[in-house]
Amino acid sequence: MGIRFVWPRVGSWLVLLAALFVSRERAVGQGGLVRLDSLGHAARFAEAQLAHSVSYLAANQHARSTLAGGAWRYVGAQDWTSGFFAGCQWLMYERTQGEKWRLRATQQTLDLAGQQNNTGDHDIGFRIFLSYGNAFRCTGDPAYRDVLWTAAQSLATRFNPTVGCTRSWDFGAWQFPVIIDNLMNLELLFWSAQNGGDPNGYAMARSHALRTLQEHVRPDGSTYHVVDFDPATGAVLWKGTHQGYADNSTWSRGQAWAIYGFTMTYRYTHEQVFLDGACRVAEYWLKNVPPDGVPYWDFQAPGIPNEPRDTSAAAIAAAGLLELGTAVNDPVLGSKYRQAGVALLRTLSQAPYLAEGSNSDGILLHGVGNKPANSEVDVSLIYGDYYFLEALRRL
Ligand code: GLY
Repeated sequence: MGIRFVWPRVGSWLVLLAALFVSRERAVGQGGLVRLDSLGHAARFAEAQLAHSVSYLAANQHARSTLAGGAWRYVGAQDWTSGFFAGCQWLMYERTQGEKWRLRATQQTLDLAGQQNNTGDHDIGFRIFLSYGNAFRCTGDPAYRDVLWTAAQSLATRFNPTVGCTRSWDFGAWQFPVIIDNLMNLELLFWSAQNGGDPNGYAMARSHALRTLQEHVRPDGSTYHVVDFDPATGAVLWKGTHQGYADNSTWSRGQAWAIYGFTMTYRYTHEQVFLDGACRVAEYWLKNVPPDGVPYWDFQAPGIPNEPRDTSAAAIAAAGLLELGTAVNDPVLGSKYRQAGVALLRTLSQAPYLAEGSNSDGILLHGVGNKPANSEVDVSLIYGDYYFLEALRRL
């Protein structure tokens, strides 16, 4: 009697232990194994941080970067970063299906409605695609899609067929500046063209990505931040930087935008040239990052290793590498990129990068906005948090 009782109980414990082990270890493709417990912990921490942030920011106050005391400095709808806070809330709604997240994300998104007609720079993609784009993806409400179509037409007004690009900025002494970041905003044009909006946006976005591949990417796979073109002839006037260390250095967030941007362009075009471009910039990244995968703010920053890291660049690259790992045909290469993305995400999910235990209301610490301008150095950045959440979603 006693024996019959004991063995089933021991067996039950073995089954329970096995189940716990399996729930902690999950295959993530191409043979890579990753412990998901730290990522689950980071996701729960992210939800708590975001819940606290929305408790004191109104729906027309869009978190941008943290102040010395740890609270968010917020911006209005016209700022280039305004779409990320709403985007974080939509990703949290998608993850939790919590009605409170849907309501709050809706309010935060609607505050950006006027930006659909903002033709003043390329950042309309960041503002609208991450807010309204996520809103449409999460709800299917056609009112959001209409805003995306209009915003794509606004961005298209900045396209110059002679240069083959959309102009990034209207300030400065440049003639027609195109920055590597601008790749990200092509998704608004691609998506709209393939989802009922103006079909002409597809050729514009493709042309812009091709010219960026030709002019911004150096032979070793590193990138220029800014290329200035002659708007009348399309000739290159100057190549250099605005937020990086030097004209011939590689600004880390720019390199991350390139990994993500060329991979995204391949997703829409299926053209090998963009996949090859994404691999070239990814290879430069992987060969030159420090051992833990989180880059210094510029790959050639003069004081390395005593220079600030940039977790926003790391989060963008992690999201890009995870997609690139599924895009390449070679399983060995795919596994390499995917595992690099997972490892980077795990690194960001713990000290010293996760904001847990700090006074910051952000999710990630140690982001760098603009080091040469001594602006937003070693702070939490809402775009770092956004791409961290997006990378978790991709995983
Ligand atoms: N797109 C602006 C930045 O990355 O700082």
